[in-house]
Amino acid sequence: MRLIVIGLIIGINFLWASNGEDIFKKNCMACHSLYIPQSKLLSNFENKNKELNLKAPTLNQLSFMLKDRVGDRKSDNESRKFELENFITNYLENSDKRKGVIPHYINKFFKTMPSMKGRLDEDEIEAVSDYIFDYSENIMIEKGVKRYSYKEAVELAKKEHKIIMIEGYLPYCRFCIRMDREVMVEEAVKKILNKDFLLVKVNLAIEKLPLGMKRLGTPSFYFIKSNAKEIIDMIEGFGSQKDFIELLNDIKKRSK
Ligand code: HEC
Repeated sequence: MRLIVIGLIIGINFLWASNGEDIFKKNCMACHSLYIPQSKLLSNFENKNKELNLKAPTLNQLSFMLKDRVGDRKSDNESRKFELENFITNYLENSDKRKGVIPHYINKFFKTMPSMKGRLDEDEIEAVSDYIFDYSENIMIEKGVKRYSYKEAVELAKKEHKIIMIEGYLPYCRFCIRMDREVMVEEAVKKILNKDFLLVKVNLAIEKLPLGMKRLGTPSFYFIKSNAKEIIDMIEGFGSQKDFIELLNDIKKRSK
């Protein structure tokens, strides 16, 4: 009985759903939960989904994987959103997990999603699809370390005696994305960064590095003293949470 009542409420609310987030919450959240940190997800799936008992991939998993695996990663955002919308339109009607993009090591714990044919109209699918697409970037901003422009960082560094850390990335560099999703959102990393560093993200495809620094491969990290004049170090590569914390502590010692 309770299930039926909830079903009715969802059904009625959905008529007024106006944006992608509302549509997701009303139609998808019964199975797809919202954000869960990657570290918890990893440990959950290593333990056969027994820690979290998820019914379906979480919103961040959906968003990360769909964004990585649907369409051409190098085309512009508008075409990528269009491709995702087509994919989701098709999946809501003809769900079949063997044809999906969620990898087997995750999807083996789930049944195929039931078809949702006719539940959402075209505009609603577009809205929910755009929401899923934008979520991967928005959640990194929300959960990650605060970001500054270089100009803001220079002013604050002098005032607050903090180290400027530039993260050099390219939009389609896999390890840059992993760094943001798996390392920069972890509490222990955030604690150090928020206390002693100012993060500046630089898209190396279109922006220049300050102080005449030459760009390294991506991801790369460029550490500058709080006087905004002296370079402490430049490091290239992806590291685990533990490695990265060691690096930050070492940089802190050398910044004095
Ligand atoms: C009744 C539970 C349920 C509901 C409601 C639900 N899903 Fe799913 N969904 C799943 C499960 C389980 C999977 C993983 C298995 C699969 O891929 O079919 C999944 C997978 C997906 C996938 C990934 C398919 C792939 O490539 O592997 C997309 C996209 C998706 N859901 C979108 C949505 C959207 C959008 C909504 C809301 C409009 C929604 N789902 C509502 C259960 C659900």
